Amino acid sequence: MEEGIKVGKKAAAIRAVDDHVKDNQVIGIGSGSTIIYAIDRIVERVKKENLKLICVPTSFQAEQAILENGLSLGQLSMYPKLDVAIDGADEVDASLNCIKGGGGCLTQEKIVDYCARDFIVVADERKDSEFLGEKWKRGLPIEVIPMSYKPVQLKIQNTLGGTANLRMAAKKAGPVVTDNSNFIIDWIFDGEQDWQKVDTFLHSIPGVLETGLFLQTAKMVYFGTVEVIIGQI
Ligand code: 5RP
Repeated sequence: MEEGIKVGKKAAAIRAVDDHVKDNQVIGIGSGSTIIYAIDRIVERVKKENLKLICVPTSFQAEQAILENGLSLGQLSMYPKLDVAIDGADEVDASLNCIKGGGGCLTQEKIVDYCARDFIVVADERKDSEFLGEKWKRGLPIEVIPMSYKPVQLKIQNTLGGTANLRMAAKKAGPVVTDNSNFIIDWIFDGEQDWQKVDTFLHSIPGVLETGLFLQTAKMVYFGTVEVIIGQI
């Protein structure tokens, strides 16, 4: 990864943790590469300030990071209300709508992030767009039940156009399998969309579990080194 990008991710993550994480909170821990810097900062502050935090993971990756760093692991059955969730994104538009799921963790991320009073996004400046799809060209991730992938692909292509690709593992070693034992379809689309309509349509297809559209849920986004954008929520 380019050095400037790493610096941006780290700066956004540190600032978000310092602004939003406080003693005695229950915190959602997102997934991806940017969130690693947030976890590092949380660990630093827990040690220095003796913070008492419960961390709820959004993925297997997040759970491992919580355990490896000696943080206190919680789950939604015990902590259904979170104070804050900090998570990455693949793209964020001018209204703070996000595409997530580049790492395939969108369903658990959506569940956990939705339970947080404040859902905070951390990302490098490449993710900052006017509209979804302006910069992110890897499509909209959609988690599907494995036996439904073919009819779901066809329904999406025939109704919305574009291409609905089954996400494959490196060297085409088979489909990517999510933490929920499902597959991911990446819908490659063209131009601006009515995302609320697209989301409603996708959820109406049998076999679709969740989409990577996080519409009107982010409270604040931290981009790269300095820029903080506050939502309308
Ligand atoms: C995983 C995600 C990630 O948060 C998203 O892909 C951003 O990742 P990164 O911080 O590595 O750019 O949604 O499902």
